[in-house]
Amino acid sequence: MRPAIRPATADDLPALVALDELCFGPEAWSTVSWTTEFERLSEDRVILVADEGAAVGYVVLLVPPVTVDVVELLRIAVTPAERRTGIGGQLTTAALARCAGRTVLLEVAAGNQSAGGLYKSFGFQEISRRRGYYAGGEDAVIMRWRESV
Ligand SMILES: CC(C)(COP(=O)(O)OP(=O)(O)OC[C@H]1O[C@@H](n2cnc3c(N)ncnc32)[C@H](O)[C@@H]1OP(=O)(O)O)[C@@H](O)C(=O)NCCC(=O)NCCS
Repeated sequence: MRPAIRPATADDLPALVALDELCFGPEAWSTVSWTTEFERLSEDRVILVADEGAAVGYVVLLVPPVTVDVVELLRIAVTPAERRTGIGGQLTTAALARCAGRTVLLEVAAGNQSAGGLYKSFGFQEISRRRGYYAGGEDAVIMRWRESV
């Protein structure tokens, strides 16, 4: 069954905190950070949930007012048991559909092959690197997507 992709509501907060912990371990956002993300839903955040009865994935976007033409993809994750079944792609498709006419930027660890592969499959291109940005000396890769017209 393909999950439905829908906007998050306040009721999703506990499930996304738990899913983030499962997906990112020590790098997970805290409950306080997630609470702030949800508080910003009425301002400049878009959170989409992949819903199979339970949340199995999510994507978080920073979407500034329309006068700013850059959107940031802040976070995306799919529950480990359901990776490589297309859910990350579904979330990315839904996210980019909300970015028509705008540039999308993101940052990804150079060694993150799954996320890097996902982004490249959607046409994101590397535009710069922050050398040794992450703990352990791993580079951060900055990627950009623009809608092809
Ligand atoms: C990145 C992530 C969201 C991808 O989700 P997913 O549901 O597995 O992705 P999909 O099944 O939709 O894959 C879409 C495409 O992405 C690429 N891809 C996905 N996983 C990949 C991997 N392990 N290696 C290489 N490419 C990969 C492929 O091009 C794939 O298409 P294909 O299966 O037809 O080859 C998932 O691996 C994840 O949650 N990772 C941990 C969290 C994370 O690192 N998030 C990014 C930083 S915020």
